[in-house]
This record gives sequence, structure tokens and C-alpha cells, in this order.
Amino acid sequence: MDRYVINGGHRLYGEVCVSGAKNAVVAILPATVLIKGRCVIENVPDIRDVKFLTNILSHMGASIERLDASTLSVDCTDVNVYDISDFEGIGDMRASYYLIGALLGRFNRARVGMPGGCDFGQRPIDQHIKGFERLGATVSVCDDVVSAEAKCLRGASIYMDKISVGATINVMLAAVRAEGQTVIENAAKEPHVVDVANFLNSMGADIRGAGTDVIKIKGVCDLTGGSYAIIPDQIEAGTYMVAAAAAGGRITVRNVIPKHLDSISAKLREAGVEIEEDDECVTVTRLGPLRSVNVKTLPYPGFPTDMQPQITTLLSVADGDSVVTESIFDFRFRYVEELRVMGAQLSVDGNVCRICGVGGLTGARIRSYDLRAGAAMLIAGLMADGRTEVEDRAYISRGYENIVDKLRSLGADITMQTVDGVY
Ligand code: EPU
Repeated sequence: MDRYVINGGHRLYGEVCVSGAKNAVVAILPATVLIKGRCVIENVPDIRDVKFLTNILSHMGASIERLDASTLSVDCTDVNVYDISDFEGIGDMRASYYLIGALLGRFNRARVGMPGGCDFGQRPIDQHIKGFERLGATVSVCDDVVSAEAKCLRGASIYMDKISVGATINVMLAAVRAEGQTVIENAAKEPHVVDVANFLNSMGADIRGAGTDVIKIKGVCDLTGGSYAIIPDQIEAGTYMVAAAAAGGRITVRNVIPKHLDSISAKLREAGVEIEEDDECVTVTRLGPLRSVNVKTLPYPGFPTDMQPQITTLLSVADGDSVVTESIFDFRFRYVEELRVMGAQLSVDGNVCRICGVGGLTGARIRSYDLRAGAAMLIAGLMADGRTEVEDRAYISRGYENIVDKLRSLGADITMQTVDGVY
């Protein structure tokens, strides 16, 4: 278990550099399974999910080398395993589902443990399965193992009944070497969907339309290696922006694509935070009081669900009443109880959280329930009076590189200790 100790009340000043996008790299690493040749991947964040995926790829026969702190060389030419259902911990991770699409695309078969990930209620994979079946695979789920098999994958037209990041990317992975053309309609448009398509195209794939709701994939025979740099992490950037808005001060967040942050910047501006954008950075200034705002999470370009716990935490100290509506997942407000312990006034009814802003939060012992809620609890600690201890089952390190060092470099008083074996 990790324990973060924060002495709150310090304003944040300075610069912080954002790492490569977690939700892009967790798809791009599985995508290397489709490629015969060496892929040099730059801007890879040093996070637990990356370590886990590189361990699985090595177990499958990939050659992996770290060329420098953020560059990996991955060569899956010799991968010869399609059954990774017994790999320990595979069910704890959501992105392991991308190995189904990638193995199916490479070997026409796959056996992978049912994906887990953060607990937000039901997280079905019916749209992934529907897509694989439309491409000609037979898919079954038995004893928490997903098995997929096809004589041959053939391009098809697939309409997604629900806009899903995971299903869009997974079908892209399975279709990239299929015979003929695949069309994904009602596709997800998140920046990491585009990044995976760009990665595959740079390795020889023919994918058009990523970033719109119709993606067309013409199957190619082979993908070969090359070099690719992962985009900056939209959610990591947004988390530091909200941290500065919460603690007060003025910070510059570097290595970002400001366009990806539009919905976050818009809501922070409404709340009275000043945001200046430059080519690859945003500067966030908050010196005065915060105003209440209403936020509804939506697929990109809407406000991201992965920023919902952070913005709710911020609004708990805004002047007036705010309403935050979660429209992507059924159950993503569990952390609200922890904010109440710190003095926040919030009530949750289904997927709606009503916030009555209070003058400030008081430090307390709290826990994190998942990756983004964990980051939100750190933000709560930064703005609270006194000492906050956040107990975290190593969720935060799954997705944030060096969060303690980055926050300390901005002037936060935060430390972290790992208590081995205690969960
Ligand atoms: N859904 C279905 N059927 C499916 C797939 C999804 O009903 O087959 C539903 C989900 O239950 C949800 C909605 O569709 O209600 C959207 O789910 P989506 O598939 O887009 O989410 P995901 O692929 O499971 C990814 C990210 C999440 C992020 C969501 C939404 C990864 C590994 N995970 O999850 O990231 O919240 O997209 O943007 O990319 C995080 O980074 O903390 C995180 C949870």
C-alpha cells in the first residue's frame, strides 16, 4: 500500500512537465504484437500499467529494451503465445483487453483473462465482442477467460451501440490485418484513439478517420517496425491544472496539446480560474475565490469522466452550489464519502452529485478508491487545512508518473511511503 502525507495550504508555483498518455500507451504496447519488426516508442510514461504490460509482452516472447528514461524498444517478431489467460494479475487491469484484439489480429486466436480495472459499476465488453464477431471471430467467455478464434478475419461494417474507447481501439487492432475494409461507425474520438491509429499507420496500417465518428480501416498484409512518440497525457495535464486551481497560485503545465484540454480549460475559466494557452503549454492562475459551475461528463470532446473526481473536489470549496453529472459510468462517486470526512457538503443521487461549496476542507485520514479518485484525494489534501493522509492501494502509481516529485517541485508539501504487502 502507498501512503501519501500532505500538509495542505501551500500555493503552487512553477512548471511541471506532463508525461506520455497512459491510455494511449496501454493500447500501443499491445498493438506492437501485430508488428514484425522493432518499434521504438518515445514519451513512454514510467507508470505501473506500463511495467505490467511490458512484463506480459516479455512473457509472450517480445524483446524489450529501455533505451532511455522514456523510450522503449519493443520487438514482437518472435511472439508465439496466444493464450495468456493464466498470466498473474491480468484480470486486475482494464487495458489487458487490447491483447484480445492484437492477438486475434496476429494469430487469428486469443485467450485472455477477463479485464478488470477501476470499479465504476458494470463495465461490459459486449461491443468489443460484437466487433470481433462481425470480423468473423467466434468469441466465448468462460471462467473469466475471453476466447476468440477465427479461420480468417474479414473487414465488416460495425456500428457501436455505445461510444466506447476500448471497443473502438480493440476493433481497430483486430481489423488492421483483416482482409478488406472495416468501417467503425459511432466510434470514440478521444485523443488516444487517434494516437493508436497514428501509431499503427506509422507502422504500415491504413486507417482513416480516427478522431471522427467513422473510422475506415483497409486491411494490410504486414506491419513493420518504426519510431513513434506518444502524445502527452490529457488527464495528467488536467489533474495538475485542477491542483493549481485548488491550491491557488500560478503554474505552467508543459508538454501538452492545449486543444485536448479545451473542455477542462473552459470549466476552470467558468470557475474563475485564469488559463493562458501557448503552443505546447498552459498557464493556470488562481488567486481569487472560485465560482460554482455545473459539469457533465461526456465522450470527447466533452468533459472527460477521468477528470470528474478532480473537478468535484475543486468545486467542493467554490462559492455556491454546483452539480456534477456523470454520464459515462454508473458508479463513479464512491470517493465523495472521503471528501465529506474533510468537511465537504455533497450529496449523491444516482449519477448526479450536488455540491454546496464550503469555505475550506480540513485535513483527515482518507483513502483512494481508484486511480483518478486517488489523484482527487491528493488535490483535497493540497487545499485542506492541516495534515491529510491518503491510503492508496497503489492505484495512483498505475497512471501518474512521479506525482510526488512533480507536486513537490511546484511547492506542495507531500511525501509518500510504500508499506509493502499491506493492502
Ligand atoms: N461500454 C459498454 N460496452 C462495451 C464497452 C463499453 O456498454 O463493450 C460502456 C461502459 O460501460 C461505459 C461506456 O461504454 O459506460 C464507455 O466505456 P469505454 O469503453 O469508453 O471505457 P473503457 O474502454 O473501459 C477507457 C479508459 C478509462 C476511461 C474510459 C472513458 C483505458 C484503459 N481506460 O475505459 O480510463 O474512463 O475509457 O473515457 O483506456 C482511467 O484512465 O482512469 C480510466 C478509467
